[in-house]
Amino acid sequence: MAMMRLDKLLCDMGIASRSELRQIIRSGRVLVDGAAVTAPEKRIDSDSSRIVLDGRELIYKRFHYYMMDKPSGVLSATEDSRQRTVLDLLPAELKRMGLFPVGRLDKDTSGLLLLTNDGDFAHRVISPKSGIWKLYLAKVDGELDAEDVRAFKEGLILADGTKCLSAGLELLGRGNCLVKVTEGKYHQVKRMLASRGAPVLELRRLTIGGLELDEKLGPGGFRELQDRELDMLFGQDALEN
Ligand code: URA
Repeated sequence: MAMMRLDKLLCDMGIASRSELRQIIRSGRVLVDGAAVTAPEKRIDSDSSRIVLDGRELIYKRFHYYMMDKPSGVLSATEDSRQRTVLDLLPAELKRMGLFPVGRLDKDTSGLLLLTNDGDFAHRVISPKSGIWKLYLAKVDGELDAEDVRAFKEGLILADGTKCLSAGLELLGRGNCLVKVTEGKYHQVKRMLASRGAPVLELRRLTIGGLELDEKLGPGGFRELQDRELDMLFGQDALEN
């Protein structure tokens, strides 16, 4: 049983803002288990209550999981006084759900970014202890070779002494390479490649665990993850070493 205020519950579903919802509820448009509830503060069981708004049944989900193709030039943050954030790319009903980005991509990095309101999930995805691979496509200015591949696998030590866990480097030719890491230290991939004399020109995240970016989304596009995709995230089939 999960008891919640009715106005909060409807707000978390993205139905309307909290103040709009107070009016909607007071006007008797919301039925809970067949009876009108006109007190926004009324606590109801989010697991078992049948909620109907204007004749339409609403299904409550506590947690929400989305993927976005983050465009370059946008901050991985929930808000910023001067710059556009990934939350600014979402419609109002999703903004109201309390979504936040799972980890960060740099402003100039594009690709797969997860958004959720589930803190435990975010922690599990980000934590190096989970061992979830994040795969990046990088365009670099410089030559990389088999020695660099070996150094990545062994675990790089960056100029400031930062020790990196074992990582994958696959050379694709023409200055392109794939990098996979289980950690997400500050500018990690850029610093790793720069330490091998190959500064990054472009960086795009392609996968997290076994979950691939849906390239059909296009820059700034987003969609809800399916249950199957949430399982794939922690499955890693696509990326086993
Ligand atoms: N590593 C980086 O250097 N930047 C990113 O945005 C992600 C990983």
